[in-house]
Amino acid sequence: MGREKQPVEGSRAGARQPERFNPAKAVALDDESRFAYLPPKDALELLSPGQGALVVDFGTGTGAYALALGRLRSDLKIAALDEQKEMLEKLKDKLKRRPQPNVVPVLSGTVEARGLAGQAAGVLALNVLHELGDEALRSLMSLLAPGGRAVFIDWNAAVERPVGPPKDHVYAPDEARRRLRNFGFRLLRRRLFAYHYAFVCAGPR
Ligand SMILES: C[S@@+](CC[C@H](N)C(=O)[O-])C[C@H]1O[C@@H](n2cnc3c(N)ncnc32)[C@H](O)[C@@H]1O
Repeated sequence: MGREKQPVEGSRAGARQPERFNPAKAVALDDESRFAYLPPKDALELLSPGQGALVVDFGTGTGAYALALGRLRSDLKIAALDEQKEMLEKLKDKLKRRPQPNVVPVLSGTVEARGLAGQAAGVLALNVLHELGDEALRSLMSLLAPGGRAVFIDWNAAVERPVGPPKDHVYAPDEARRRLRNFGFRLLRRRLFAYHYAFVCAGPR
């Protein structure tokens, strides 16, 4: 069934692809073939969180990577944050079937979400930068603890891909870098995957 396109709300202004992620497509997020071209251990290496650190998976969706990171590092506390209750319900169902106490679903805008401000040693934004308006990007930045890093990994518009959104919905690495830099992020490192770019960033000084 088709979903009506939603108008660009003020809070989504600045996003390359301002429509909300369609939960009907959530099943694609749980396709583990993703882990072959974007291994969770590589995302973890880019985050390099210290022992017992808090990591926020910003726009966790069904939590596929939050759960994988939590399995790789049981010492981490992972806040799996999403703006859509419907997506978090899917993660909660998984957690009921297979408990993983170090992964906690958090809905944006709640007291729990506000309590994350300034606390995260690492923020992972996976396949989500193209959906983030300026307001959301500001709120992502505000999660970082002093010395924390934000890792943006997203579909690369500059390569041919058999998977992922159309090119005009996502950024080429140069465009993403410009947006992050103009926003005040300091770029520490970059990496290219087969279908994704990655930027490791610190917040402003
Ligand atoms: C394409 S999905 C990616 C999910 C997950 N990162 C993954 O790769 O498996 C994008 C997710 O980000 C969420 N999202 C988009 N904008 C958001 C925002 N401003 N705050 C929190 N979640 C957001 C959407 O609801 C959706 O679940």
